[in-house]
Amino acid sequence: MTELTLTLHERQTADFEMIANGGFAPLTGFQGSEDWSSVCSSMRTAAGDYWPIPITLPTDLECEVGDVVALNSDEGKHLGSITVEEIFERDVDREAVEVYGTDDLEHPGVAAIHAEGNRCIAGPIKVDALPDHEEAFMRRYLTPAESKQAFADRGWKKIVAFQTRNPIHRAHEYLTKAALETCDGLFIHPLIGKTKPGDIPADVRMRCYEVLMEDYYPNDRVILGVKPAKMHYAGPREAVLHAIVRRNYGATHFIVGRDHAGAGDYYGTYDAQEIFDTIDTDELGIEPLMFEHTFWCDECEGLASGKTCPHDSDAHLFLSGTKVREMLGNGEMPPPEFSRPEVAQILIDAYKEDN
Ligand code: ADX
Repeated sequence: MTELTLTLHERQTADFEMIANGGFAPLTGFQGSEDWSSVCSSMRTAAGDYWPIPITLPTDLECEVGDVVALNSDEGKHLGSITVEEIFERDVDREAVEVYGTDDLEHPGVAAIHAEGNRCIAGPIKVDALPDHEEAFMRRYLTPAESKQAFADRGWKKIVAFQTRNPIHRAHEYLTKAALETCDGLFIHPLIGKTKPGDIPADVRMRCYEVLMEDYYPNDRVILGVKPAKMHYAGPREAVLHAIVRRNYGATHFIVGRDHAGAGDYYGTYDAQEIFDTIDTDELGIEPLMFEHTFWCDECEGLASGKTCPHDSDAHLFLSGTKVREMLGNGEMPPPEFSRPEVAQILIDAYKEDN
């Protein structure tokens, strides 16, 4: 038999890692046509488990059913292999519409699946190693088994997880702390896979989280981990995937705020919350905690949302992402009501280094 090797793309490498470390349980490999179809149309695997976004391995590699293909990471590290059980053509347009809710090629998730193409190989993987990560991430790296153990060691029963791909500003801090008020522990679980242009790189964000862990979070009640995955920008469907992954890491609750995992104007502000109305969360194994749009209110003199603040929007501090980027890029501190100065300084320094 000839030796076959496939070098995975960035997302495929991240997917391999999530399957390999148990973050994508019950998946044990890249999905085949039956799973693909069932996930697209009904948000479940062919075996009936909730699963919202197909995890497939599109490739042009010449191979046959029965082949064992060695898999390398995008950086060339040997990771393991896949036993090819099926070679199939997916319908990318159908996946776009059913999973992402749009066939617009400008949507970053839709553009990504179109770039990957239709032909997929599927089958179980064998794991020899996990991809390498920068030291700053590895210091905080926990597999699902390790995070479950860490929660158990602390005696936590009710654990709320927070997904983020942004620096933690005051609104995020408020959500996490409001949730922590009624939970035993908080698991801050930022996504460290590469994000899209315009997003803040993961190593810079990591420094922001570290500074908050030092000065603003109670370290005996908070664990900062890293999630080695990439965003799909699939809004509601991705919120469900984010929840499943955090269940696998041992969380019992999961924060879903405004425009969770959204991109541009593709999804309504609360679509990612409403999708959970269609889901049996007992069966899912994790409960979403919904938060409305949160902001600083001058009259309240604190963070609040439409649910807790009676004042007019004139009293609310609102800065668009573009405005914040512009301020930071000009070396200007956003108000401390928006961002902790220590966090803003890290971001200003990163913008300076970049230019
Ligand atoms: S994302 O990965 O889910 O897209 P992002 O880092 O933008 O993450 O936000 C992390 C979490 O905080 C998401 O659940 C998001 O809905 C929530 N969130 C962000 N900003 C706010 C806000 N101002 N009010 C309420 N929820 C918010």
